[in-house]
Amino acid sequence: MPRSEGLTVKNLRVTTAGKEILSGVDLSVPAGEVHALMGPNGSGKSTLAHTLMGHPAYTITSGSIHFAGQDITHLRADQRARLGIFLSFQYPVAVPGVTVVNFLRAAMRSQGKELPAREFMKALTAEMEKLKIDPAFRSRYLNDGFSGGEKKRCEILQMAMLKPRLAILDETDSGLDVDALRIVADGVSQLRNPDMGVLVITHYYRILEQLQPDYVHILHAGKIVASGEAELARTIEKSGYEPILGPEAASPEALPV
Ligand SMILES: Nc1ncnc2c1ncn2[C@@H]1O[C@H](COP(=O)(O)OP(=O)(O)OP(=O)(O)O)[C@@H](O)[C@H]1O
Ligand SMILES: [Mg+2]
Repeated sequence: MPRSEGLTVKNLRVTTAGKEILSGVDLSVPAGEVHALMGPNGSGKSTLAHTLMGHPAYTITSGSIHFAGQDITHLRADQRARLGIFLSFQYPVAVPGVTVVNFLRAAMRSQGKELPAREFMKALTAEMEKLKIDPAFRSRYLNDGFSGGEKKRCEILQMAMLKPRLAILDETDSGLDVDALRIVADGVSQLRNPDMGVLVITHYYRILEQLQPDYVHILHAGKIVASGEAELARTIEKSGYEPILGPEAASPEALPV
């Protein structure tokens, strides 16, 4: 698969609220590969995720984003979603009044992936079973009163139904108990295919152990400062960021809890 089929980010600079958060990010996630993005709190991981999705609060001041052979730097979020980019939020928002079923139907319709009602319900029931989500959640309002882990599983349910070509998972593993983590990791693994790239943002080695990323990148102060194989994540798990970033990264605030 040529690299142009995946995601290519070049020298991306991004500001929000008048402050530069990303200061020249270079990153490629070819279709079919799983890449992990790690880095201390506040290093810009979620900012990168939101920028890739086209969130209007983040202004690209230079650089480019190419996806599936197209320059998407200036596309709106809905246009990017239609191209198959999916973001699982670090903090999924509640949408009272919109049920999980209706949300998913609308999301699929907006991406031209609508299924006949019966087929849709069959697919939804099957995916919910795989993710061990109680069928009663179909008629609950999206994320409204969901526990942290239920929200994260519901994000993976959306991904399973939408079948994106680039899945960005922003700390989908945070707050999951060990069983839920395995279910989510298995869910993502089952969806892996040669046409889909995955960018997993995480603080922990645990999920990477199960997902076996092709590459791990470290974001620090708005730049990718190191890239390597899965071993890099293990080093961080064992020794923190100091060996990679130097002593200033070892302050308690800079390290994941
Ligand atoms: N909308 C915003 N307004 C103001 N500041 C912002 C905004 N979004 C991000 N920032 C700032 O940008 C920096 C990077 O934040 P970001 O959420 O991208 O970090 P992160 O790497 O995802 O951290 P964490 O590991 O804690 O999730 C932080 O200092 C944050 O306060
Ligand atoms: Mg974040």
